[in-house]
Amino acid sequence: MAKTHFICPIVKWVGGKRQLLPEIMPFINKKCSTYVEPFVGGGAVFFELQPKKAIINDFNNELINVYMVIRDHAQELIQQLEKHKSCHSEEYFYTVRSLDRLEEYKEMSHVEKAARIIYLNKTCYNGLYRVNSAGQFNSPYGKYKNPNIVNETLIRGMSKYLRSNNITIRQGDYKDVLKGLRRGAFVYLDPPYMPISSSSSFTGYTENGFSYEQQVMLKEECDKLREKGIAFLQSNSHCEEIKELYKEYKVKTVQAKRSINSRGDKRGEIKEVLIYYAPEK
Ligand SMILES: C[S@@+](CC[C@H](N)C(=O)[O-])C[C@H]1O[C@@H](n2cnc3c(N)ncnc32)[C@H](O)[C@@H]1O
Repeated sequence: MAKTHFICPIVKWVGGKRQLLPEIMPFINKKCSTYVEPFVGGGAVFFELQPKKAIINDFNNELINVYMVIRDHAQELIQQLEKHKSCHSEEYFYTVRSLDRLEEYKEMSHVEKAARIIYLNKTCYNGLYRVNSAGQFNSPYGKYKNPNIVNETLIRGMSKYLRSNNITIRQGDYKDVLKGLRRGAFVYLDPPYMPISSSSSFTGYTENGFSYEQQVMLKEECDKLREKGIAFLQSNSHCEEIKELYKEYKVKTVQAKRSINSRGDKRGEIKEVLIYYAPEK
């Protein structure tokens, strides 16, 4: 695995891992047969690593559509983004944002939908993808002076990387991705975090959040990986419930600079944990 393309996340995503890359990268087995990221989000780790063989997945179909369109229709996507750029204004932002509330949204092409998500992500408040309980985009307008709506170099570089390597892009529940894996694979899990306090209970990536019961289920999935001898690394929040749940695993505490929690204006250092397992050689 070697970084051969100058690519980085195309969308800013809650929980993005760019700040933590120096802590995370040493734990990843660069010689694995398949790199697997079942909660890929913005893909900071994946795009840093640029594996030759990988499976990426997320529950969020709008996000997965963005990656598939970048891979297959980069040129049309750039054209659509140019259109958004030329029309950009606060009023236009709200018109584009409201499209997923209309019946004709279903008729929009994959390229149009992907361009809409990238446009809204670049121009909304804090650059945050957020949906309400009905799955509709609801981040407000961002008031940026010069948002980078059309990053042509990045889109072309990402498209080339996704096409010239063995990258499987999937949409669905993380458990389905873990099912068929064999020893030799490496799994990086970055689930929606366990809230550490009521003010940080952000779970708005998909219509359905990630409850404590789901954290317990995820731990059981990690146990299954260990039974199969499959190495993994998981990021999660530094809280008693998570430390208790993973008490039989190795856990390292790291400091993350976070600009986003449930209140976008709150910034500062917060602790996170890295939970890891590697089979004996
Ligand atoms: C913490 S974010 C990942 C952040 C990402 N690693 C990054 O660097 O930007 C968690 C992701 O899990 C996804 N997700 C939530 N529930 C899921 C599920 N059951 N299966 C797969 N993905 C899920 C969300 O859509 C979100 O993108």
